[in-house]
Amino acid sequence: MKFFVDTADVAEIQALAASGLLDGVTTNPSLIAKSGRKILDVVAEICAIVPGPVSAEVAATDYEGMMREAAILRRIAANVVIKLPLTPDGLRACKALTSDGAKTNVTLCFSAVQALLAAKAGATYVSPFIGRLDDIGMDGMELIRDIVAIYRNYPETLKTEVLAASIRHPVHVLQAAKAGAHVATIPPGTLRSLYAHPLTDKGLAAFLADWAKTGQTIA
Ligand code: G3P
Repeated sequence: MKFFVDTADVAEIQALAASGLLDGVTTNPSLIAKSGRKILDVVAEICAIVPGPVSAEVAATDYEGMMREAAILRRIAANVVIKLPLTPDGLRACKALTSDGAKTNVTLCFSAVQALLAAKAGATYVSPFIGRLDDIGMDGMELIRDIVAIYRNYPETLKTEVLAASIRHPVHVLQAAKAGAHVATIPPGTLRSLYAHPLTDKGLAAFLADWAKTGQTIA
């Protein structure tokens, strides 16, 4: 499973990239707004830090506007992925951009048939929002399982990768991996929490205490 980080905070991305475990980055208009910076500057900086796919979302809602904005975003760097909303215009733009060699991420996916449309439009990634479905009392992970199952039925024609989004906690990551999602885009805090286990801390403390008793150094 690939790990993307879901943030537009360049300092966070820089720190997480040092782990060597970061495969890409996703942003959205809310995350850009939270950064308080200009989208072109932020995305350029992120692309210089992370060589993997970096999703940058269009703000236009009509096909022509999306295509205009996509052309500008694509000029930033070769690893920019154009993020488009799952609307008729968004999927039309997805199809056109894919035909033109761009990588695309169709976002705001809340149903399996929407994901089927995104794959038919040639999306590189589809982003089902797990947490937001859970928030309204639905089962976000069921959606991931359904999409993975559908795509597996048509391996020759549906090449889209399932990018589990709106992840809120480590169990979402675990369940998305078990369901076969290709990618999880994870907020920085949740990504860091994946390392944590109390028995790791306790075990390390015990090893270090015993090691100190030996008086040895590895040199
Ligand atoms: O970037 C898309 C998605 O990950 C947003 O998550 O937490 O705003 O529902 P959230």
